[in-house]
Amino acid sequence: MSLPPYEPPSLVRHQPGFMNKFSRLQGREPLTHLDGVSVEALIAAYGSPLFVFSERTLVDRITELRTAMSRRWPKVRIAWSYKTNYLDGICRVFHREGAWAEVVSGMEYEMARRRGVPGEHIHFNGPDKSRAELQRALREGAHVHLDHFDELALAEDIAKEDRTTYKVAIRLNLAARGVPAWSRFGFNLENGQARDAVVRLLQGGHLDLSGLHCHLGTFILEPSAYRDQAGKLAGFANDIRKEFGVTLDFIDVGGGQASHNTLKAQYLPGEQATPPFSRYAEALAEGLSKLDGGGPMPTLVLETGRALVDDAGSLITTVIANKRLPDGRRGVVLDAGVNTLFTAFWYRHDVLPTATWRGIPEPTVLYGPLCMNIDVVRDTLLFPAVEPGQHLVVRNVGAYNVTQWMQFITYRPAVVLIGRDGQHALLRRREVLEDVTGPEVTPPWL
Ligand SMILES: Cc1ncc(COP(=O)(O)O)c(C=O)c1O
Repeated sequence: MSLPPYEPPSLVRHQPGFMNKFSRLQGREPLTHLDGVSVEALIAAYGSPLFVFSERTLVDRITELRTAMSRRWPKVRIAWSYKTNYLDGICRVFHREGAWAEVVSGMEYEMARRRGVPGEHIHFNGPDKSRAELQRALREGAHVHLDHFDELALAEDIAKEDRTTYKVAIRLNLAARGVPAWSRFGFNLENGQARDAVVRLLQGGHLDLSGLHCHLGTFILEPSAYRDQAGKLAGFANDIRKEFGVTLDFIDVGGGQASHNTLKAQYLPGEQATPPFSRYAEALAEGLSKLDGGGPMPTLVLETGRALVDDAGSLITTVIANKRLPDGRRGVVLDAGVNTLFTAFWYRHDVLPTATWRGIPEPTVLYGPLCMNIDVVRDTLLFPAVEPGQHLVVRNVGAYNVTQWMQFITYRPAVVLIGRDGQHALLRRREVLEDVTGPEVTPPWL
């Protein structure tokens, strides 16, 4: 029988109030592989830091969402929220799995069209659509969601110019229990503005109303908010049908379902607190059951973003150095900072070592290389001793990071996809100096 290696005793300063009954020590099992591919091999092939996406998880999540929703509603459409992650390879996986595109800008619209998504398979949101962008989308049959009266007038003007009638949807904002209102987008339901928009739209005679849209907010942990939302949308759809004889093609409930991350202010960890898609589906169906049943049932459209892609993404980072901070905590400097991992501002991300560790975990701050005090990847977690050159994996980072990341003092990392058969390939190469300085122009007098 071989004895475990000798470990010298050590004294560890514990921070009062740090542990609660849910706080766990990091498991002793290191995370050595992602979808069967060795982390060391990935770093050797593509460098550090490195974003890695799992195609298997992407497919599993969208399948789970579609199955849960389809059990509850006869016609379901998933429109992939581009702003959450518009890397070509990620969008192609979701489109291959049957998702349409949900875009919020002319640039995203162009991205979807370039990868072959037809206009009729695009939902176009957002408060800033130029005349040219709106005209293109309307002419290409996209589902344009009008955000404000000025945009309504613009769409009408385009329809007049084109001597035709265009179908459009309107975006609504409304109050749902437990969710701070995103009242800046769309027409408010409760104060009658939404009804005014319908009246104005129909009176103009150049636009038809095809759908209602409402995106409640994001990382909504309470499924009952969707019961309120869908119930209110259904009630409004009933009113429109009775008053104006309009039957809607779709009701779009936006996105907002939570991923398996843990918000900074959250008590329970994400793996315990995040509801399964089936609970959101149940709440939505209960709300939609308020539809009075006159005419065909509208399609339920979902614009789920982070809950589809977050769990599929990991960030591999390398330890640069260990330090002892004046307050006694260990500081670990990483080669990835908050400009790469924007979501570190919101989440207590799960971070795992990739090598077997020994010794006692101690309160540790993980911070990045930006030379700025805000550059904190994890503020105090119980973490084992790690050595410079060792790799760590930050989990559930697939949403919003590779769209909101900022180039700052160094290059943005490569992004890799691991396929379902274990093959891997670049989705985006690591930046080089020309990517940073390329758009610059030097004035002739300098
Ligand atoms: C209109 C719209 N739809 C969908 C989404 C996706 O939201 P989430 O990632 O929370 O699912 C967003 C995100 O802000 C949005 O603005």
